[in-house]
Amino acid sequence: MKLFVDTADVKELETCLERGFPSGVTTNPLLVARSGCTDFGVHIRSMIDALIKHDAKIPLSVEVNTADPAKMADEAEHFVKEFGDYPYLNIKIPVGWNELKVIAQLARRNVPVNCTCCMSYNQAVMAARAGAKYVSLFWGRIRDIGYDAGSVVRQVRETLDRSELDSEIIVGSIRHLADVNEAIQAGAHILTVPPKFFPQMCAHPKTDEAVAQFMTEFRAWEQAVQANQ
Ligand code: E4P
Repeated sequence: MKLFVDTADVKELETCLERGFPSGVTTNPLLVARSGCTDFGVHIRSMIDALIKHDAKIPLSVEVNTADPAKMADEAEHFVKEFGDYPYLNIKIPVGWNELKVIAQLARRNVPVNCTCCMSYNQAVMAARAGAKYVSLFWGRIRDIGYDAGSVVRQVRETLDRSELDSEIIVGSIRHLADVNEAIQAGAHILTVPPKFFPQMCAHPKTDEAVAQFMTEFRAWEQAVQANQ
């Protein structure tokens, strides 16, 4: 199981990279728009610079900024030219009938595709068959419409495991810490998680209690030793 960071915030990304755990990064147009940047190209470049600075040889998914499948191929091409010097670049293409053509074209050229916005079993399977390296299932958004995200992920995983395909499931749209645990149990290969959850994932009140007890007793022992000298 791999953990990706779901962010377009360079500072948040660096905070994670410093801690060594990320296996990848996913962005999307909404995250970019909310990052406070003013130039898309410059911003993606600064994310790549951060990855290089931290020697992180990990996938970075950059999503096309158009909903028009006819324009996606050109935009993907542009990304490959502009950011393709980063060898772990992935292009994110939303799932859809006409979008599959773009996925297939990129896959044939060995450009790794992250097929995004998948909400159903069928969408994920079609994307994988078209050549997507990653199929991104949106856990929170699937649940928003009353479906069981866990069984969607479980079924896609079972199908992939029985196929010759090497596509991996990324579960995104994480809203709660419990989503992370449930998505892992459901069979996600990868979870892409907003950075705000990572500190929580490292914390436990019993850890704090244990460390505090160790320190209290150690200090008391130190004082006792000093008093006896
Ligand atoms: C995943 O790749 C997406 O960036 C993200 O998880 C979307 O989730 P949202 O439902 O929070 O927009």
